[in-house]
Amino acid sequence: MKILKKISLGVVLILVAMQFYSPTKNISPGDHTVIFTKETNPSQSLKNTLKNSCFDCHSDNTAYPWYNNIAPISYWIADHVQEGKEHLNFSKWEHYTLDKKNHLLQEIEEVVGNEEMPLTSYTYLHREAALTEIEKNEILDWVKRTRVIYQLGKLPK
Ligand code: HEC
Repeated sequence: MKILKKISLGVVLILVAMQFYSPTKNISPGDHTVIFTKETNPSQSLKNTLKNSCFDCHSDNTAYPWYNNIAPISYWIADHVQEGKEHLNFSKWEHYTLDKKNHLLQEIEEVVGNEEMPLTSYTYLHREAALTEIEKNEILDWVKRTRVIYQLGKLPK
């Protein structure tokens, strides 16, 4: 019993100590998705959908929930954001080649079509981020239309 008490006390102390350290936040001033918007021309409602359902993990600006102030949840969120951005960052759209953009759109088609994104751990807490059938179709239609731009290399001026 004694040893159990010591272990629990140790765990509590570690959790308390963790509260003093928080990972750097993914926030940068300004809207960095201007180029993405210009090139791919999403409708306003589609842009809102991407913002509400994807940008938290796939852009340079995360809208953090209050529980991000609690460690280790903050680390878990930071991990998702970092990994999400490594795969796809709408704020860095201009850094991708035409081929890469085409490929990313194809991946968006796959993950949205297969309902793999947004992550279920995310929609569990952000119910409003779960895609409705209409939003899903809107994304899929837009992907089809937009991929042609990159396949033909015909960017809007
Ligand atoms: C809670 C964070 C989070 C949200 C919200 C989110 N993603 Fe992701 N996404 C990730 C992570 C983490 C990965 C990398 C690991 C993986 O594939 O599960 C990823 C990977 C991806 C990939 C690459 C898949 C591959 O096969 O490499 C695409 C494309 C993608 N997400 C699109 C989206 C779209 C579109 C939305 C919104 C409808 C979205 N994501 C919402 C975290 C997120």
